[in-house]
Amino acid sequence: AVPISVSTLAAMKSRGERIVSLTCYDASFARLLDSAGVDLMLVGDSLGMVLQGHRTTVPVTLDQMVYHTACVSRGCERALLVADLPFLACATPDRAFDAAARLMQEGGAQVVKIEGGAPVMEIVRRLSDQGVPVCGHLGLMPQSVNRLGGYRFQGRDHASAEAIRHDALALQDAGAVMLVLECVPAALAGEIARTLSIPVIGIGAGVECDGQVLVVYDMLGLNSGRPPSFSRDFVTGRDSIGAAVAAYVAAVREGSFPAAAETPF
Ligand code: KIV
Ligand code: NA
Repeated sequence: AVPISVSTLAAMKSRGERIVSLTCYDASFARLLDSAGVDLMLVGDSLGMVLQGHRTTVPVTLDQMVYHTACVSRGCERALLVADLPFLACATPDRAFDAAARLMQEGGAQVVKIEGGAPVMEIVRRLSDQGVPVCGHLGLMPQSVNRLGGYRFQGRDHASAEAIRHDALALQDAGAVMLVLECVPAALAGEIARTLSIPVIGIGAGVECDGQVLVVYDMLGLNSGRPPSFSRDFVTGRDSIGAAVAAYVAAVREGSFPAAAETPF
């Protein structure tokens, strides 16, 4: 299969073809997701929660992100490989450059994802200028959970929606090649996806984004009894993990996931 690049995703957006993404943390899942046709594999720092059992993504270290990214890259041939910069990796440009270099050179990441708006804008620009493809991440930013006081939908009032709209455009101007919108109202996410030229991948952000991403364990029904309201269990009623992933890929491609019931706002 022809490997996916950032230009493949841009072309998919312009053709109106939905982009399918899942998180991935190891080589076996990478092989499975890759052969199921997942376009974008995200080594998310959600691994701190689903693999390590922490309550947040804050404890995840750069070493751990590099390790899991390298594991995934060995099983990934077609999908574009995106890795999260962990908590505070953007606190200084030096740290950000070191983190991006390690994720790409040791881990094999092709894109690095950075949470934040204005505070990381200059770093996004500098990384982009140096040839690092950056994926932005706005809306609910889990690395800020201790400051936010919980995992809540964002962009529900006028000022907050306006800030997300503004940051999304600023990230595109700074050179970001794509954007993840997490837990924002569907109408806002759809508007941003139509405004930006770069692909917008949603999670808990309605069906009008250019693509969808879920934490793979959530869509396999593997969680501590409280799946996120915007997720769907694709495994129940199917006889293998492969069949569940195939059903997710099909549902995202045809626009039947997320449905209204999986779109809280
Ligand atoms: O860490 C993660 O899994 C993520 C996605 C859910 C977007 O950032
Ligand atoms: Na993340």
